[in-house]
This record gives sequence, C-alpha cells and structure tokens, in this order.
Amino acid sequence: MPSGTFHFPKGFLWGTATASHQVEGGNTNNNWYKWEQEGHSSHKSGLASDWWGGRWKEDIDRAADTGQNAHRLSIEWSRIQPSLDRWDVDALERYRQILRELRERNITPMVTLHHFTDPLWLSELGGWETNAVVPLFGNFTRKVVETLKEYCSLWCTINEPNVYALNGYLRGIFPPGKSDLNLVIHVQANMVRGHAAAYRAIHELQPEARVGYALHFRPQKPARSWFPLDRMMRNIKFEGINMAFPSSISTGVLQSPLGRIPVPEGKGTQDFFGLNYYTMDTVIFDLRKRSELFSRSFFPHGSDLADAGMHSNYPEGFSWALTWVAKTYPNLPILVTENGIEDSTDRIRPRFLAQHVHAMWRAVNFNLPIRGYFHWSLVDNFEWNLGWTQRFGLWGLNPDTQERTKRPSADLFAAICKENGLSSEMVQKYCPEVFEKIFPG
Ligand code: FCB
Repeated sequence: MPSGTFHFPKGFLWGTATASHQVEGGNTNNNWYKWEQEGHSSHKSGLASDWWGGRWKEDIDRAADTGQNAHRLSIEWSRIQPSLDRWDVDALERYRQILRELRERNITPMVTLHHFTDPLWLSELGGWETNAVVPLFGNFTRKVVETLKEYCSLWCTINEPNVYALNGYLRGIFPPGKSDLNLVIHVQANMVRGHAAAYRAIHELQPEARVGYALHFRPQKPARSWFPLDRMMRNIKFEGINMAFPSSISTGVLQSPLGRIPVPEGKGTQDFFGLNYYTMDTVIFDLRKRSELFSRSFFPHGSDLADAGMHSNYPEGFSWALTWVAKTYPNLPILVTENGIEDSTDRIRPRFLAQHVHAMWRAVNFNLPIRGYFHWSLVDNFEWNLGWTQRFGLWGLNPDTQERTKRPSADLFAAICKENGLSSEMVQKYCPEVFEKIFPG
C-alpha cells in the first residue's frame, strides 16, 4: 500500500472561519435579528454559539490546541456603530481583546468587515440600495482598522456580495426579501463601491495591509456538453452567479447577464483572491422551469451528497475553481476563505476534507499561489435562513446547553494543520474509503 505525505509550503495558513451573527448571539440591532423575529428563518439565532457571552475564548483554545495557525472572523457593524451618530468603544475593545488573544495563541487573524448583516439604522436608510452606504461603510472600516490594526493586517472587506444580493434581492430568502432583477445589480454595484472605499481606507491607514473580498464561487457544468442549450444555460448561470464582482475588479465595469454598470473605482482593488468553494452544479435546459430562466441545476445520480442533499462532495469542482482563479488573476495570491460541508454525524466530512486538501495540494504543485485554507467552520453555528438545521462545525454544538462535542474531522484537521500536509496514515485512519482515490496503488 502506498505511503507518503503531501506537504504544503512553509508558512501556509490553516484555520477555520466564522461570522459574527452566526456565532456571537445576542445581536439584536441588525437586519437578521429583525428577519428572524418576523419568522422568516427556520429558527432564531438566540445565543448562537455564545461568543459574545464569552465562549469565544474556549473555542479559540480549541483552534489553537488543534494546531490551527489562522482564524477568519467578522466584526459586527451594528455593535461598533449602534446608531448613525455613535461608536461603541466597549464593543471595539472586546474585538481588540479577541484579536490580541488570537495573536497570543500564534493564530493569525483575518478580519471580515461585512458578513451579511447590516445595522438596523442602515436598513432603514435603504441598506445597500442607497448610494449613501458607500461612505458609511468607508467610515466604519476606518474606525475598525484604526482600532484593530495593531493585531491584524489581513482584511476581507465583504463576504459573498453575490450571495447577499441574489438571496436578498432575487430569491427573497435573505433580508430584505425582495425579488427585483434591477436591484440585484444595483446593490452589487454599491457593494463594489463600498469594497473599493474600504480597500483605499485600509491601505491609507495601514500600507502593509493585504485586502480582498470573499467570493462565493459556484462552478457549473452543462449536463450534456454536446447540447448548445445546456451550454448556453450553464454560461448564463455561471456569469449571473459568479461574475459581477470579478468583472468589476478586473475591468472597472460590472458585467452580468442582468446588465452592465461602470464602477471604475473598483478596478484593481484586491491584494489576494478570497475563494469560498462548497460545491459544483450540473445545469440542464428545462422548458418547464420558466421562473428559473428555463434551466435546472442538480447533482447527478450517484453524487456524494451531504445530510440535506444541499451540497455534493465534489473536489474536482474545487480544482476547477482554483485553476479558474489562477487563470483569471495570474500571480494574485489565493486564500481559500471558506470550504466545508453540512454533516451532523461526520459521515462525509472526513473524506470531504481529505479530498479537498488533496485537490488543493495538487494545485499548489502546479504552482498556483495558494497561501491558506479556512475550513467552515470551527463550531456549529446559526446557518442564516436554514437556522440550526445545518451543522458545519468541526465541533458539534447543542445550542440549548452550549455543550460542544468534538467530531472526528476535528482530529483529522488537527493532524493536517500540525503536519502542514496530508499523509497516507491520516487518510487510512479517518476516511479509508477514499484511500485509493488519493493514494492510488
Ligand atoms: C457561506 C457563508 C457562511 C456560511 C456558509 C455555510 O455561503 O458565507 O456564512 O453560511 O456558507
């Protein structure tokens, strides 16, 4: 039986990612709180993973004890700026403490400035629909960076602007629950402008900073590559879901099947590419699906599906995504800002993890400039519209008792982080069912 270890370059970042509203609890001053109270989500976030109550400390101990050397977390705008005319210095101090303690544990922090939530006062002003958000987000960024730059130089301005806009303004499953094609690109254009304002503000305050955003990148392939209508539908979906931000940053013009908006201030505003990859879709032309522009996305028969069938374990899609990024932005460092799978029993996660780390190792060996990997997530947390039905954590959580339970994947990830690589022994121990795929004899 073959044996060996796939090592990563020295200094590779290994960690997990979290987001304020999903882990902190008690965030009662943002648009998601209101949305939950109105009954739009499956559950309420409540205490979430109780980080604001102090449990961040035990969770970052877990990260440190298991060899993680990086952590991506987000700052809750509604805590820092509870109303338009007020900054909360205690909240800022709390985040300073968290970052300081991450540093003390040799964990490099990456801070996200916007991860889906908006302060209520901002929503009342029109949220990302109003152009006023651009300078407001710039000011918020300044305040945060002035306070936290002592401990952080790796910044993610906005998480998944495409998901924010599509879910909130087309599918209506995120606040504000609208369905208006014009608003989708208008909101995305303002997010590009906000991102660009933040990019410049950060560099002014901290010239050595590395700044980017995190794109939810969902590759698609045509169900029948010989059939032009499948290919056409695949291209429309690919562009519509993925391309608004990348086109703005590359060319200064936001291009999407929904329209075209010049955003010259966005051009060139990224120091790394933040990639969130979960799964890949197969797209087929379907005359019956009028509301979905005559196409349907699905996972083919025999796919390696997670609990709720929402994600398929598809590491080839990850390879495809990494190659796409490297071709689109030659030489730009790549950070995998999220990758993970919902799996309460840890049935599929060990092989998901091993196969994705293996795909990433192959990409590194083709000289793709990948610098780090953040697994989503450290501990189970509140999964937006799906509430507590989705379990993405390396540690399980009972939200009622706040009890944590380590899943086997946490040990596998610890072994990977400590070794800075993936070994045949690890695969043999945690997911022997894919040994042949990763170490063919
Ligand atoms: C991503 C989000 C993150 C989490 C994971 C499962 O789209 O950025 O907050 O919900 O999905």
